[in-house]
Amino acid sequence: MIELSRKEDGTSDTEVFAKDVAHGLSQEPKSLPSRYFYDAAGSKLFQGIMALPEYYLTRCEFKVLTENREEMARQFAANGFFHLIDLGAGDAMKTKVLLRELSQQKSAFDYVPVDISGTAMSQLRDSLQQEMPSVDVQAVVGEYFPALEWLQDNKAARKVVLFLGSNIGNFKADESKRFLQRVCSNLSKADKLLMGIDLRKDPDVVLSAYNDASGVTAEFNLNLLRRINRELGGNFNVDQFQHYPIYNPHEGVMRSFLVSKEDQDVYIQSTGQTFHFDAWEAVHTENSHKYTLQQVYELGKACGFSVETVFQDKACRFADVLFTVD
Ligand code: AVJ
Repeated sequence: MIELSRKEDGTSDTEVFAKDVAHGLSQEPKSLPSRYFYDAAGSKLFQGIMALPEYYLTRCEFKVLTENREEMARQFAANGFFHLIDLGAGDAMKTKVLLRELSQQKSAFDYVPVDISGTAMSQLRDSLQQEMPSVDVQAVVGEYFPALEWLQDNKAARKVVLFLGSNIGNFKADESKRFLQRVCSNLSKADKLLMGIDLRKDPDVVLSAYNDASGVTAEFNLNLLRRINRELGGNFNVDQFQHYPIYNPHEGVMRSFLVSKEDQDVYIQSTGQTFHFDAWEAVHTENSHKYTLQQVYELGKACGFSVETVFQDKACRFADVLFTVD
């Protein structure tokens, strides 16, 4: 397994985490970066989210991939050997549909899952060894950009990048553009990108997906505070915060917050700071953008990609869009 640290100047991941937390909680209004959801506990909670009846995204994308797997695998493999790079692979539940199909078609490829969770990557490597021993796997633990640069230097062959699960949705509009431009700059002509995108739909359906009846999403959100307690010596009383998601149908943005139920102070050992929370003050923790197909076309175009095929589930309004580098 390859492990890429976020910083090359000797700053540890924990120090970067502490700095990001201190910065976010000193802002007005307060925020915390959603990338820190995914420690071992958070990755496990996210697996719980994916199994929720309300969280339609995973099931819909699973259906899109399953129904179109033959066509997708054929398009990936059209020009011989390729690296299949899975950004934010997690447990790769959906990617396995494609891996099985590619194996069956006897395509020449290797599989490079990339994820910030080391636990998720070692578990994935082991499960693939069991389930599909013929697939050549090189797991990478790291953030997307260091991983893409590592790929540029170490993997010369043709690349097919997977960015599934509507992970693009976590970025702000300008960030998603910069992200895709950077992906594109690490690819060559005729390389491909398959991106999963949650489309605009009934706002009640969207809201329920982030406000499930059993409270798993609330736990997932609150785990961010628990993680600060565990890794940075924080003293958050997690019971005094509440999960609050809200969907703005005009912007197509789902936003999640942690709201302080009382006037309180929280001390964080690693940063040596005390943070004050007013009663009902909110910390913004996540954005999940829902796109129109028009926006997807424009985003791709602005970043050096052309749409090759749109695979979609019309009922669910979830799309997996295959792009080619112009
Ligand atoms: C993994 C970013 C796609 O935004 O839908 C699920 C994360 N957050 N429930 C999403 C998430 C709350 C998820 N992504």
